[in-house]
Amino acid sequence: MDRSKKPSAIGVGGSLPQPTISIKDNVVETSLPSGESVTVQLYGATVTSWKCNGQEQLFLSQKAHLDGSKPIRGGIPLVFPVFGPPPPNHATSSLPQHGFARNSNWEFLGKSASESAETAGKEKADLAVKLDFGLSHSMLTEESRKAWPFEFGLVYSVTLTKDTLETSLQVRNEGKQNFEFQVLMHTYFDIQDISNIRVKNLESKIYADKTRNGSSHTETSAALAITEETDRVYKELDPAVPIIISSAKDDKPLFSITREGLTDVVVWNPWIEKAKGMADFGPDEAYQKMLCVEAGAVSGWQTLEAGEAWEGGQSIKSRL
Ligand code: BG6
Repeated sequence: MDRSKKPSAIGVGGSLPQPTISIKDNVVETSLPSGESVTVQLYGATVTSWKCNGQEQLFLSQKAHLDGSKPIRGGIPLVFPVFGPPPPNHATSSLPQHGFARNSNWEFLGKSASESAETAGKEKADLAVKLDFGLSHSMLTEESRKAWPFEFGLVYSVTLTKDTLETSLQVRNEGKQNFEFQVLMHTYFDIQDISNIRVKNLESKIYADKTRNGSSHTETSAALAITEETDRVYKELDPAVPIIISSAKDDKPLFSITREGLTDVVVWNPWIEKAKGMADFGPDEAYQKMLCVEAGAVSGWQTLEAGEAWEGGQSIKSRL
């Protein structure tokens, strides 16, 4: 999609300092006057950077492909309409792992700026800037259209405030037949040292362990340490209870993730051997610097009837 003729920097309006937005080479970037920023590639509508308090919050592999040749290894790839390898004998069977959303070219629909609701009334209100991206059946490659022949519309919204990044997805069924889908926001968190990381609020939850043939287990740890390859799908969580990524040293929360409509959470770290085996993951030791905590609806299927819409999202608060 050629967006090169768009103006390179647009003030969103008003006389007070406003967010700026630039659109160049299929990359949309917005910054708040206070310095926070987010970068989104139209390829996959993948958020590849979120800076807050002068610090990068998301991990991006040094070997990630940013040329649209492969899903981006890092940031927040969006998984839709199937999570993982598609099951046989399902409408998604012919799709690649994690579906087509993360490797399709999305359209930038526009931006809006507002005072963040949370801070309204404060003397100095926080600004929020929202970027909307769209993907529909007609925008897919012929291969994807054939593999998943449903008329759908996706609107993905990325909202930046001073210490929060929200990503939310609306799925519409614009066709005449029902379809089933799964969705996941595959967030790669940038962390200093995996040995100092704990994940909280998963205790007593049931998870499928993908490193043990998907067998079912109950989480016994109140503060999960990652000490080996980890690939777990935690199910039936209360979206309003935040998943906390915290520092083991001082118990300080680093990120908290609340969700809406997304009741599953995947915790993934490839660890040493798998990291080495991924051509786009680098450097090899970077598995120590990342943790994926992925909010999704993946343990079953969402069914959308003709003409209906579904919405879900996550809100990540940085405490860094
Ligand atoms: C996670 C899955 O969500 O994504 C893992 O649970 C998978 O099983 C990982 O390995 C990365 O997937 P991909 O397709 O980006 O290599």
